[in-house]
Amino acid sequence: MDKVKIGVIGGSGLYELIENPEYMVLKTPFGETPRIEVGHVKGRKVAFLPRHGKPGVKKKVGHAVPPFKINFKANVYGLRMLGVERIIATNACGSLNMKINPGDIVLPDQFIDFTKLRETTFFDGETAVSIWRDKPPIKTVAHVDFTDPYCPELRKLIFEACVSLGLKCHVQGTYVCTEGPRFETPAEIKMFRVLGGDVVGMTSIPEAVLARELTMCYASVSVSTNWAAGISKEKITHEEVVDLFSKRITQVREIIKRAILAIPKERRCRCKDALKGALPR
Ligand code: HPA
Repeated sequence: MDKVKIGVIGGSGLYELIENPEYMVLKTPFGETPRIEVGHVKGRKVAFLPRHGKPGVKKKVGHAVPPFKINFKANVYGLRMLGVERIIATNACGSLNMKINPGDIVLPDQFIDFTKLRETTFFDGETAVSIWRDKPPIKTVAHVDFTDPYCPELRKLIFEACVSLGLKCHVQGTYVCTEGPRFETPAEIKMFRVLGGDVVGMTSIPEAVLARELTMCYASVSVSTNWAAGISKEKITHEEVVDLFSKRITQVREIIKRAILAIPKERRCRCKDALKGALPR
């Protein structure tokens, strides 16, 4: 099979992105992936992985796996096994920044990790990880730079896609990732605001981290679906999150398609060099 160099990770709402998909479940050293769709988007070969899909299950499933149980390592590694070099992800988030309204699209450029239970590295020193295509897998420890946690080149392409579609988006934002599955308390949100958070969600970490560890580019199209806890008097419901996200899904799909079309062959960002200087000598 030809290499698939572009991956999309999203919720179930993004089904229908890929034309004439082939379906596959991959076995990785970290477990099985959900059903991945491989096919074309505007002539470019793309793999779509539904983040909440059930691992090992070859049929379409909706929101089957809660955020804290997602096998992020299998998901990201599975895409890498296909040859993916760049990942565009989508997710829903709550807003704690008064300039980011529910319904707005945000392209995060920073994150703060408040997850607690997740495995956030491939490099545990014990598991052989295939990093380079032309070399055997290695067991190693690594300390990877996260000065630019989301790929600047991909973010720029996504921003330009928004502009070309006449859609407003926030070009920067600090994404606070919580463990979930509960929503936050107002006290937590107050703390996140003090720390510089703009939006809060449950899924971007460790996805962004694992992608970078495997030298892949990763950027996120985040949809603000609600005011974070305590900002409005209303309680937060999963239903409202899903409703608002589905209202934006057509736009998100269009943004992703345009961005994919604009992706250049060569990567000029630093993501591909993420392991240079990160491994022990
Ligand atoms: N908090 C955490 N995750 C979310 C939220 C929220 O308010 N909205 C959508 N995903």
